[in-house]
Amino acid sequence: MVIVDGQPVKSCTAFAADLDGAEVTTIEGMANPDGSLGTIQKAFQDHHGLQCGFCTPGMVMSTAALLAENPRPSEEEIRHYLEGNICRCTGYQNIVRAVMAASGQDVGALAAE
Ligand code: FES
Repeated sequence: MVIVDGQPVKSCTAFAADLDGAEVTTIEGMANPDGSLGTIQKAFQDHHGLQCGFCTPGMVMSTAALLAENPRPSEEEIRHYLEGNICRCTGYQNIVRAVMAASGQDVGALAAE
């Protein structure tokens, strides 16, 4: 998952030549300028929303796109937005917690997994 001109795009289906002139943000663009974890990355770390090397960047990038569009999404909105990132290894609960934390919301109402 990458963000192209503000929209999340599955990088495996994007033809590089079609992106000529577009603004493309990859997972590397989520870190702070000093290389430390950005807000979303830190929330995923803090709430154990981490999955494999394919799933985690996809979830982080989707979260960035979601929060740019909706800075305080509900649990239902988060689950709906992330449903395109299919991971068969998790129940998503900690990922939802991480997204809520990244948006500055209380995660206490969500049950831990
Ligand atoms: S953690 Fe990546 S497929 Fe489940």
